[in-house]
Amino acid sequence: MSELQTLPAVATLDYTPEVARATAALAARVRGVIPPLEWQLHAPYIAAIGEWKRRRNAVVLAHNYQTPEIFHGVADYTGDSLALAQFGASTEAEVIVLAGVHFMAETAKILSPDKTVLIPDARAGCSLAASITAADIRLLRQRYPGVPVVSYVNTSAEVKAESDICCTSANAVAVVESLGVPRVIFLPDEYLGRYVAEQTAVEVILWRGHCEVHERFTAAELREFRAGHAGIQILAHPECPPEVLAEADFVGSTAAMIRHVGESHPRRVVMVTECSMSDNVAVEFPDVEFVRPCALCPHMKRITLPKILHALQAMEQRVEVESETAARARRALERMLAVGRREQRQRWETAQ
Ligand code: 13P
Ligand code: SF4
Repeated sequence: MSELQTLPAVATLDYTPEVARATAALAARVRGVIPPLEWQLHAPYIAAIGEWKRRRNAVVLAHNYQTPEIFHGVADYTGDSLALAQFGASTEAEVIVLAGVHFMAETAKILSPDKTVLIPDARAGCSLAASITAADIRLLRQRYPGVPVVSYVNTSAEVKAESDICCTSANAVAVVESLGVPRVIFLPDEYLGRYVAEQTAVEVILWRGHCEVHERFTAAELREFRAGHAGIQILAHPECPPEVLAEADFVGSTAAMIRHVGESHPRRVVMVTECSMSDNVAVEFPDVEFVRPCALCPHMKRITLPKILHALQAMEQRVEVESETAARARRALERMLAVGRREQRQRWETAQ
């Protein structure tokens, strides 16, 4: 039996005075978004997860849409999809727990094949990733011979393996332009593809995939935010429909939105994206008023503190990618990482 297997399990998940002391500074920091009574439920898990991370030589990578007790409480690294991919490729830890959706965990495994990658709930999917298969790409290639395929990272390993290069919302235009061709196939997000097409001379052939969270926002809703909240800045994710983006002051990836709040320090802001973003960012900027539309990603919300603890204790769910598929997908991801992060010029910036 290995030494790890003989370690005693964490004995109790009570809110003990030791747990209260160990988590007091964090509790004070997040008080604006996690009330003290609720904190008493989270704190024992936060303490236990910290202990199990040490035992397993593990890190927790959390996407910006995770709830504040995960984002601020247990994550070693937080970010947008690009940052999580970059971090997954470079960490020294033996175990990565991906607090995010399945394609993010798969990306980490593809980039770090020798590490153990765990996802706390393997059912955490994504409507974009579900909208296209590897067979669809083979058909597209027959229809548009010689036209390179750019795949959003919100895709399965099999789809990445059929692609020439991947992109995220943080580098999509730069990736498309890096190919030096007049036409690309861009998939699966139609709206991100349209946004990219607006900003480049490269012709973009689109796929009709949509994010089930962002497609619901409407331009009328954004106009209501503006009318109801004087001086509000509207930030939107490029997975929103074009008429929604047209009403926004700034369009960018989740990380770009956070950076924008830090740089422009608006008095009032609305982030037209998943709900938890505002909670997480509000902790860093207590003097900014966040207007919060509630749009939950049901897949992201499958990840909870008890499931993260279980993942570390039981070392499951392990994410595996068949080696030949992984090698081909890795090539597309590494090409993307070589392009790096180059956000588009934002309307807000260009208007200054
Ligand atoms: P980001 O890469 O901007 O974090 O977006 C990922 C995502 O799934 C948005 O819905
Ligand atoms: Fe997928 Fe949309 Fe959820 Fe992001 S918010 S993980 S794109 S379903």
